[in-house]
Amino acid sequence: MAIAVNEKVFTLCTKNSMYQMKADEHGVLLHTYYGKRTEQMDFSYLIQKRDHGFSGNPYDAETDRKYSLDTLPQEYSCQGNGDYRESAFAVRNQYGVSASDLRFQGYEILKGKYEIPGLPAFYAEDSAQADTLVISMKDRDGEILVKLYYGVFEEFDLITRAVCVENLGEEEVYLERALSCCVDQTCGNWDWMTFYGKHEMERQVSRTQVHHGIQSVGSLRGTSSHQYNPFVVLAAPHTTETQGNCFGVSLLYSGSFLAQVEKDQFDQTRVLMGIHPGNFCYKLLPGQSFWTPEAAMVYSDSGFEAMSHNYHKAIRNHLCRGKFKNARRPVLINNWEGTYFDFTGEKLFHMAEEAADMGVELFVMDDGWFGKRDSDNSGLGDWYVNEKKLGCTLQELSAKIHGLGMKFGIWYEPECVSEDSDLYRAHPDWAFTVPGRKPVRSRNQLVLDFSRQEVRDHIFDQMSAVLDRAEVDYLKWDFNRSICDVYSAALSADRQGEVLHRYVLGLYEFLERLGKRYPDMLMEGCSGGGGRFDAGMLYYTPQIWCSDDTDAIERLDIQYGTSFCYPVSTMGAHVSACPNHQTGRSVPLSTRATVAMAGTFGYELDPAKLTSEEKAEIREQIIRFKEYYELIQTGDYFRLTSPDTERYYSAWEFAALDKKEALVSVVASRVRANDQPSRVLLRGLQENGIYLCDGKEYTGGALMYAGLPLPEAKQEYESWNFHFLLKE
Ligand code: GLA
Repeated sequence: MAIAVNEKVFTLCTKNSMYQMKADEHGVLLHTYYGKRTEQMDFSYLIQKRDHGFSGNPYDAETDRKYSLDTLPQEYSCQGNGDYRESAFAVRNQYGVSASDLRFQGYEILKGKYEIPGLPAFYAEDSAQADTLVISMKDRDGEILVKLYYGVFEEFDLITRAVCVENLGEEEVYLERALSCCVDQTCGNWDWMTFYGKHEMERQVSRTQVHHGIQSVGSLRGTSSHQYNPFVVLAAPHTTETQGNCFGVSLLYSGSFLAQVEKDQFDQTRVLMGIHPGNFCYKLLPGQSFWTPEAAMVYSDSGFEAMSHNYHKAIRNHLCRGKFKNARRPVLINNWEGTYFDFTGEKLFHMAEEAADMGVELFVMDDGWFGKRDSDNSGLGDWYVNEKKLGCTLQELSAKIHGLGMKFGIWYEPECVSEDSDLYRAHPDWAFTVPGRKPVRSRNQLVLDFSRQEVRDHIFDQMSAVLDRAEVDYLKWDFNRSICDVYSAALSADRQGEVLHRYVLGLYEFLERLGKRYPDMLMEGCSGGGGRFDAGMLYYTPQIWCSDDTDAIERLDIQYGTSFCYPVSTMGAHVSACPNHQTGRSVPLSTRATVAMAGTFGYELDPAKLTSEEKAEIREQIIRFKEYYELIQTGDYFRLTSPDTERYYSAWEFAALDKKEALVSVVASRVRANDQPSRVLLRGLQENGIYLCDGKEYTGGALMYAGLPLPEAKQEYESWNFHFLLKE
C-alpha cells in the first residue's frame, strides 16, 4: 500500500522512497522524513525539541518553551505564526493581517490520482497506478481551509503535491503566497542544483552548497524562462550519477515561479517551490477556492541517474498525452534557418521536394506566412494567410507538400501582437499596457492579455479558420518575449495581482481546446527556443524546441542539463547549416546528426545549399535514426560524461530496458595535440552478457567497469556511434 496511516502519522511509500508527516498533539502537521524506503515507523523521534530562547511558542503550547514553530519541520509552513523562516503560505484577512496558523482537521485516501481543474498534472490511466492522500488543515479562526494533495506513483518514486485553498469565511481574503510544496529537512548538508541560462544557452547546470541564509532562483517574467528552469535538485554532498541521496522538485507551471532553499540557524534546510509571490495576490471571495500548480518530487538513493530515469518515464507515460505520446514523431525539416522571412510558396515547395527525396517526413513552414510579416516588426495577431507571398492558398501548398508523401506543419505565435497589425489597431486594450504609459517593447512586439476569454476566443477563431481548411499535421506554438506591463483592462485594481496566473490558466485553456479540436495534429512548444521548457507545457505539447542555439557543440551542454528532468522524446533538436548561424562554428554533418538524434531529430537548413554528398549522408542519417528510434525514445538515457569533469569528450548512452541493446554516442568536443587514450564507462548492461559491436565482443561487465576505449579524434568535433547487441 502506497499510503499508510497510523493514528496521525501519514506515510507515503514508493518503490525506493518514503515520505512521512505527522499531525502532533497541537494539530501542527510536522514533516518527519523524506528519504530511502525502510521499515515503517514513526519518524518523529528524529525531531529534537529544545528551548531555543528567542524562538516563540504558540499559546496552546502553554509553558512548553521547547515547542516552537520556528524550529519544527513543517509540512506546509505559514507566515505570521512565529515561524520566521520564509513560508509556503500567506493569506491577508479583512483586518489586513497576514498571519495564518494551519492545524490538522482530517484526511482522505482516494484511489487513483487527483486532477487539478485547469492546470496540468501527472495522471494515472487506471487507478492502480497511483494513490492520493488529501490532508485538510484549517486556519485557527476556521475561515481558511487548506487541502494538501499528495499523488503517489510507486513505480517511479514520484510524489506529487498540490494545494487547494478555500475561503470558508464571510469576508473576502487575499492570497499572497500559496506555494506548491515545502520540504523541511532537519539535518544534513545539501548541495542544490539549478538550471540557469539565457536565450540560446538554456539549462546549464549549477551546483552549489546550501549555505546559511536563502538561495533562490525563479522567474518574474510571466513564463518559466530561459534564465532559470522550474526544476531543482537537492543532493547530499558528493552525490554522483550513480551514488548518493538526492531528490528533484519539478513545478508543472509555465509562468513566474520561485524555487528556494533556506538553511536556518539550526542547520535545517527548507525547500520551497511554487508560483512566485512577487506580483501575485489572489482575491478569494467567500466560498471560492484556489488551486496551486503541481510540484513533482522524485527521490533517489542511488544518484542522479535513477532520479532522471524516473522523471523521464513518468513524464513520457503519465504527463504527455495524445496521439504522439508514444508514437514515432516524423523526421521534420523546418525552413527558419534556411530562409528566415525570405521565402515564397515556390521556394518552400522546392525545399520540401528535396527534403522528401532525402527521406524527411514533415515540412514545417515557420514564421512569416501570415498577415504583413516580412520581418519581426509587424503582423503578429493577423493570422490570415499571406497568399500573395505564398503565391497560392495554404490548402494548395499543403496539398502539394502532401503530394510529395510528406506531412505539413506551420508556426504560430498566438499570445503576441505587433503594434503594426490589424488586430492591435482594432483592439489596443487587448495587449498588456499600463494605463497612460507607452508599453515596453521586446522584439518589437507586445503580449496579448490571454487572461481574457474574448481575446483567446478571437485568436482561436482566427487559427481554426486556417487549420480547418488546410491539412495541417503539426503546429509549432511559439512565444518570443517576456511579459511586462502586467495590467488587465478586464480586472479591477484589487485583482491585478491575479493577472499573470490567470494568463497561464488562459494559455492552458487555449492549448487544451486546440488539442481537443485537432487531436491528430502534433504540437511542439517553443519560446525563443527553450524559454518555456517546463513540465507544465509538456502536458499540452509532447515536445518543445530545446534552444535557438542549433550549434551541435553548444547543444551538448544544453541537452545535458535538460536531461536531468526531461526525456529526449521532449527535446526538439535539429541539424542546421554550417558555419552555424549562432556561433559561426563548423561541425561535421555526422556530428550534427549524432547530437540531434539525442532529441526529436530533424533538419533546419536549405537543402538547395547541400552538396550531393551531403544529401546522400542525410539520407543515411534518416535511415539510421529510424533504425534506432525505438531504443532512443524508450531506452534509458545515461549521461556518461559531465561537462564539469570531462573537457575533451561528451558521451551518452541509450540502453534498452531489457538490456539487449545499447547505443553509445561520443563527440570529441575539443581536440588536443599528442592526445592520450581515453575510455568511457558504459551503464545499464547485463554484467555477464556478451555484447557485439563492430565485429568485436565484450562482456557487459568489461564495458561497464573497465570501459570502452575511445578512438583518437582526427579532427575537431568528430563523433562516433557504437551500437551494442547482446548475443543470444
Ligand atoms: C523563435 C523560435 C525560432 C523561430 C523564430 C521565428 O525564435 O525559437 O525557432 O521560430 O522564433 O520568429
